[in-house]
Amino acid sequence: MRTSGPRKAQEQKVGTVVQSAKKFCLLLLLLGLNLTLAVAQQTTLRQPDVCFLPTPQSIVKQMLELASVKPGDVVYDLGCGDGRVVITAAKQYGVRAVGIDIDPERINQSMENAHKAGVEDRVSFRNEDLFQADISEATVVTLYLLHSLNLKLRPKLWRELKPGTRIVSYNFNMGDWPPEKKVGVMSGTIYLWTIPANGTP
Ligand SMILES: C[S@@+](CC[C@H](N)C(=O)[O-])C[C@H]1O[C@@H](n2cnc3c(N)ncnc32)[C@H](O)[C@@H]1O
Repeated sequence: MRTSGPRKAQEQKVGTVVQSAKKFCLLLLLLGLNLTLAVAQQTTLRQPDVCFLPTPQSIVKQMLELASVKPGDVVYDLGCGDGRVVITAAKQYGVRAVGIDIDPERINQSMENAHKAGVEDRVSFRNEDLFQADISEATVVTLYLLHSLNLKLRPKLWRELKPGTRIVSYNFNMGDWPPEKKVGVMSGTIYLWTIPANGTP
């Protein structure tokens, strides 16, 4: 049966509306999917092993001095908090530095602080569990965790870090791995170790 002019035009109009509605639904579906993925990515990491407590800025400087940071070094702060160690390394020594934190809020805060300090080109922040992260490119590692976490981390440091990599820890030692240097600071102690030539002390 042939459709008359006005009726055909109306059918075409309805068809166009249906097509647009389908595209709109598809768009909503894709947006929803993206949102779900983003939320899933942010919530897959577990709770922090230790809460955020920043190292006083004067001690950050002493830690980097004790590690003898020099041009060409790559500084990793494991559990980077607000990014102060990473940002200070990049700003004062001009080196590349990486911060890793399990808490996405700390990563956002670090990125904001790096932007304010104008060092975004030399730093990166990764929302990862420090026990799972690839840290093999580090030549200096800084820590302000807990004694128990340092002990848990020790085998990974020995396994993954290159000989000559320096490790500095604020307030917590490494059990029976004796530090090379130990410096008393106003609110505690900073420890220094170097990964030996054969990797394992
Ligand atoms: C005591 S704060 C030290 C912050 C910073 N390094 C400083 O010295 O100012 C410890 C940080 O470790 C983070 N953290 C705890 N457990 C972690 C884990 N398994 N992986 C990565 N970050 C973790 C916390 O979110 C917190 O920001």
